[in-house]
Amino acid sequence: MQIAISPSGKKYLFEKDELHTSEGQILRENLVSGKVTSSSGAVFTVLKGSVSDLFDFFKRGPQVITLKDAGYILARSGVSKDSFVVDAGGGSGFLACFLGLHAGKVVTYELRKEFVSIIKKNVDLMSLSNVVIKNKDAYSDFDERDFDVLTLDLLEPWLVPTHGLRVGGFLVAYCPTIQQVEKVKRIDGFVVEEVCEIIKRDWKVNNISRPKSKMIAHTGFLVFLRKL
Ligand SMILES: C[S@@+](CC[C@H](N)C(=O)[O-])C[C@H]1O[C@@H](n2cnc3c(N)ncnc32)[C@H](O)[C@@H]1O
Repeated sequence: MQIAISPSGKKYLFEKDELHTSEGQILRENLVSGKVTSSSGAVFTVLKGSVSDLFDFFKRGPQVITLKDAGYILARSGVSKDSFVVDAGGGSGFLACFLGLHAGKVVTYELRKEFVSIIKKNVDLMSLSNVVIKNKDAYSDFDERDFDVLTLDLLEPWLVPTHGLRVGGFLVAYCPTIQQVEKVKRIDGFVVEEVCEIIKRDWKVNNISRPKSKMIAHTGFLVFLRKL
């Protein structure tokens, strides 16, 4: 995924050979050492997109997990290059791709065909060869065994079979409501390691700086269970 940043700081996804922006048109053929001058004289910087750019340019179907929640899921469940992760439901594939940038392998289960094709687009956007998409019902069973982490972002996470998760592995459930948390906490064969919410407050920074008056107050609770 390549992005172009204008002198005013506006970011664009740069996928094709030309890009039309409010600061002029840029052509890939004019790109020299990561810089390209637009038809109106603005010098754009072109670079490989990072994880945070992924969040801005992702193709969206179902509501995606936010960067703040995905980041903590990654850190708290210790996902690293050797990790094997199973994820359900895939949704738009944001969490699966985010984890795929760090894990050895991610298999994501999504029930609805139309969302599977959105996930495919996003996997391609990120050129991820270690993210596998399965158009299957996560409440039936997973084909995989001995995986290290199971991430769940669907309505009834307590209905998902967990026998494929290795002992010591993490079950991470993203639950918008506390009623879901109560049910996840009671899944057999696990100990509850943490239930939390990640709260982020943005600031407006210029001559007079202060927290922004509006914020997203709630996204979801994160429940971390450890398999015994
Ligand atoms: C909120 S979205 C997940 C978003 C995703 N975590 C992301 O970051 O893009 C929930 C998804 O779960 C899927 N889903 C619901 N029940 C399912 C099931 N039994 N098996 C697989 N997917 C399921 C829905 O179709 C929906 O796309």
